[in-house]
Amino acid sequence: MLQITTQRTTTPKAKPDESSLGFGVHYTDHMLIIDHDEEQGWHDARIVPYQPLELDPAAMVFHYAMESFEGLKAYRTPDGSIQLFRPDKNAQRMINTNHRMCLPSLPVEDFVQAVKAIVSFDQDWVPHAEGTSLYIRPFVIATEPHLGVRTSRTHKFIIVCSPVGAYYSTGINPVKIFVEDEYTRACPGGTGFTKCGGNYAASLISQVKAHELGYEQTLWLDGVEHKYVEEVGSMNCFFKIDGTVYTAPTVGTVLPGVTRMSCIELLKHWGIPVSEERLPIADVMKASHDGKLEEVFGTGTAAVISPVGELRYEGDVAHINNGEIGEVTHKLYNTLTGIQWGKLPDELGWTVKV
Ligand code: COI
Repeated sequence: MLQITTQRTTTPKAKPDESSLGFGVHYTDHMLIIDHDEEQGWHDARIVPYQPLELDPAAMVFHYAMESFEGLKAYRTPDGSIQLFRPDKNAQRMINTNHRMCLPSLPVEDFVQAVKAIVSFDQDWVPHAEGTSLYIRPFVIATEPHLGVRTSRTHKFIIVCSPVGAYYSTGINPVKIFVEDEYTRACPGGTGFTKCGGNYAASLISQVKAHELGYEQTLWLDGVEHKYVEEVGSMNCFFKIDGTVYTAPTVGTVLPGVTRMSCIELLKHWGIPVSEERLPIADVMKASHDGKLEEVFGTGTAAVISPVGELRYEGDVAHINNGEIGEVTHKLYNTLTGIQWGKLPDELGWTVKV
């Protein structure tokens, strides 16, 4: 159990307009910080006014990308209360990430306690408007000033929170995806399954390329053969082909998304066949031309469920469901968001009150 001290800001900010929040633009009045060193372990948990960090320029995070992060949301329910969605899954994923990155982790209970504490403290910042939520960004950074490459002796765990609307400017309308055939996101044995900043930094060159071609995001193929579909930069990806829903296995190169996991559980619950076998991009494009590619959608905490209307691979273009959201995608969207915002009964016990 963490002992968390609090210091309230004397200069609260004006709340942003909830009808145009965007994603990751606004930040709440406070942040949570916990320090870590070899002697004391995690200590000095505190909620303080949101402010810039003071770090030594030689802090290892700046030089060797020694950091990890998580993403989850707090939702305002119809009765005005606030709830989280499966926060223990984020806590466990951060432990898995940090193990790979040689960073220290908080136990699951302390992670969840810290999230609840900062959300509760900044509860007025959890927006009320339809489709909005408070995005919660926990992260760990290596703070020791040292230029030799080794593990750090000091760290900080920090949580900042941001009231958000839709991740994509298209909202629930289908996004256009570019299939990357040149660059690689992840290889077996690497960090693909982790939430570390480096994965995202290395993906930007492809995102820039995709934008230049008029596409919103990149779909990554496996790093060895550039043959099998893996994930989209900010979400996992699902393909409904001839009645079966396919998504890449989380074998080490794919992020094990909490929304991904929840969608698989819902689909199985509804009796819809789900396959986590590797799926060649050539099969996806062929299915499209044979009229069997029924739906494509991405899943993620930030992206929620995002229908994909177009895929472009090596000059070949697949148009999906006439650019409209598919039936299963829509059902998943309605069910998942219904549970998250407390509008549907939470029969699977996924939500946690703040
Ligand atoms: C999330 O969905 O929470 C993510 O972390 C994806 C992205 C914004 C980096």
